[in-house]
Amino acid sequence: MGFPVEFLWGGASAANQCEGGIFEGGRGLANVDVCPSGPDRNAVIIGHRKMFQMDEEHQYPAAGGVDFYHRYREDIQLMGEMGFKVYRMSIAWTRIFPNGEEEMPNEEGIAFYEHVFQECRKYRIKPLVTISHFDCPIHLIEKYGGWRDRRMIDHYLRLCRVLFERYRDYVTHWLTFNEINMILHAPFMGAGLCFGNGENEEQVKYQAAHHELIASALAVKLAHEMNPENKVGCMFAAGAAYPYSCRPQDVWEALLTDQENYFFVDVQARGYYPSYAVKRLQKKGVYPVMDGGDEKLLREYPVDFISFSYYNSRCIAAEEQETAEGNLFKSAKNPYLKFSEWGWPIDPLGLRITLNQVYDRYQKPLFIVENGLGALDCPDADGYVSDDYRIDYLREHIRAMKAAVEEDGVDLMGYTSWAPIDLISAGTGEMKKRYGYVYVDRQEDGSGTLNRIRKKSFYWYQRVIESNGEVL
Ligand code: BG6
Repeated sequence: MGFPVEFLWGGASAANQCEGGIFEGGRGLANVDVCPSGPDRNAVIIGHRKMFQMDEEHQYPAAGGVDFYHRYREDIQLMGEMGFKVYRMSIAWTRIFPNGEEEMPNEEGIAFYEHVFQECRKYRIKPLVTISHFDCPIHLIEKYGGWRDRRMIDHYLRLCRVLFERYRDYVTHWLTFNEINMILHAPFMGAGLCFGNGENEEQVKYQAAHHELIASALAVKLAHEMNPENKVGCMFAAGAAYPYSCRPQDVWEALLTDQENYFFVDVQARGYYPSYAVKRLQKKGVYPVMDGGDEKLLREYPVDFISFSYYNSRCIAAEEQETAEGNLFKSAKNPYLKFSEWGWPIDPLGLRITLNQVYDRYQKPLFIVENGLGALDCPDADGYVSDDYRIDYLREHIRAMKAAVEEDGVDLMGYTSWAPIDLISAGTGEMKKRYGYVYVDRQEDGSGTLNRIRKKSFYWYQRVIESNGEVL
């Protein structure tokens, strides 16, 4: 009993939130670089305020990140010390193709990730690579309007081909798009979409999503053709939708919310548009334009496994209720739960419920590739953080995951918590919202030494991995 011996314990990060060095190594500019911190961030990430370059008025925290670009050796060494079996990381598209359209890749960018993979190998850490963690070259946004244009598929596949070929010796596990359903909630950050006045946003979002779904299917095809060892997964922002009450109207609304979320995975895992989506998108007049061969492609190349982030469950009411924050979108406040300092519900049992729901629905191996607590950490005089609150959060979630594996029979490949080393928040652009086992001395105003300091949770997680989840 317990976790299988090959269970993949580790942590997850994203290039744009940790690397920095955005003007180094021949890298080009991406949407994720120009999302400012502060009050204008939301309008930019939802595509209502166009920002295609940096200006003097705003701060752009991704520009410096936490300097993984220069400190990756130290960071991976720390992961090795914790006993990581896997490191989920992403590739900055614009390091490989600075404007997204070049014929030949940027060798300096290729070399950077090769060095990262070599460091991982030193500690026997398997990389799990997200091909696109929200990023999209600015040039492609200016020229094509991001994923609203079908030609994005070719540019994305050119990136995939280079990655599958050049990293063949290092990587066998890939994720096509991070949180693909975020296109509905953060369309500029998620897919480079900006909207004109009076434009039908839903139509643009579903058309862009269709292009991503086709790109994802073609990436599965290519990955399998180029290396039969390759396994490709999809990734979505999960979190069971609870009805606010047993009123049938609340139950119905919760079901609709779940369907909106599962739509993407239904296509990627089962290989076709589910009937509820066909009907509803057609009724709203937002059913995407498809090419003749699209349905066949989707059917022929479903993903090998399903990965997801889980931070919180959601509570859905038919009538207006007090709301709570959550991973990029709000829902009704669940009176039975406690909340993080950022107002996100804390619901470990919700992870077990989500695991069961996703496994029941797809019957494919699952991978939890994000889960964690964003909190304010207060280092003592020596810089040490006693983050018992984080340990409590993670312990309860790992217990729930263990129950899903041991008692419910869910086939789970691994767990990568978000994020092993503190980094910039995707939702708010803040540095002070920390998730790591390792504290990074970078403050909200950009000051700090960038030194890495092990927190209490570092030693705790080390024991968890060492005991394969027995000592919690
Ligand atoms: C997910 C993203 O939405 O949640 C990550 O995949 C993100 O990029 C994480 O960082 C946590 O959200 P936040 O807003 O606290 O950074």
